[in-house]
Amino acid sequence: MRRNIITTSDGSKTIQLVDWNEQYHSVHGALAEAQHVFLKNGLAYRIQAEDVVAKDKQKIHIVEMGLGTGLNLLLTYDFLSTKEFDLEVNYTGIDKFPVSTEEQVQLNYEQFTAVNTNSFKEMCGQAWDSKEMYAGKFSLEKRQIDLLEYSDKEPVDLVYFDAFGPRVQPELWTEESLNVLVSRMSVNAVFVTYCAKGDVRRSLQNLGLRVERLPGPPGKREMLRGIKEN
Ligand SMILES: C[S@@+](CC[C@H](N)C(=O)[O-])C[C@H]1O[C@@H](n2cnc3c(N)ncnc32)[C@H](O)[C@@H]1O
Repeated sequence: MRRNIITTSDGSKTIQLVDWNEQYHSVHGALAEAQHVFLKNGLAYRIQAEDVVAKDKQKIHIVEMGLGTGLNLLLTYDFLSTKEFDLEVNYTGIDKFPVSTEEQVQLNYEQFTAVNTNSFKEMCGQAWDSKEMYAGKFSLEKRQIDLLEYSDKEPVDLVYFDAFGPRVQPELWTEESLNVLVSRMSVNAVFVTYCAKGDVRRSLQNLGLRVERLPGPPGKREMLRGIKEN
């Protein structure tokens, strides 16, 4: 499939799949989308929850479906290391078709981190199907698998669901596919996605999540957040 690097409206770059007319991020701002959907409404929301603030829970397991360029990983690591959180973080990134090193270089996402340029480069270079520790009690496990092959003994506290859209990969948005991750969510766990389709919202509700429609990132009216309440 033909791939181009394009510049989005906020100046950050992303990868475009020409034949699908689909991008890794929103053309209205790759960085803005990642910060709004996954950081603000996912990570920041989850760690201000009572159980984390009260420090009953000092460990958080984040799973990203579609690690892709690693932008969400970079922003997550940066956010956690520039604030005063004493959290052990296990980050699992799933991707069946990893991004190449050449593309990572062209995207130049290191510019978005003040302190962790080298760590991010190391994360991008980390072998697939391996787990490594980084400074600040942060571990990264990269798994080159199909979503449907995912299994894990450790419950999931936060899901970044960042698959290509249902228009091009409807099979990743079925109840069965969503349930691969939803079924592993712990109580109070949070599921966020940029997608706001009614079918996806109803599937998440059928799987037992309380689903909120939130204002979307630039160029999108809404996004979804699901919470596992019991
Ligand atoms: C929208 S992009 C991910 C964007 C990414 N989160 C980022 O910030 O760059 C979707 C990703 O899903 C991956 N993918 C596609 N089909 C998959 C499948 N069946 N199982 C796992 N990953 C898949 C693609 O390789 C791609 O990296």
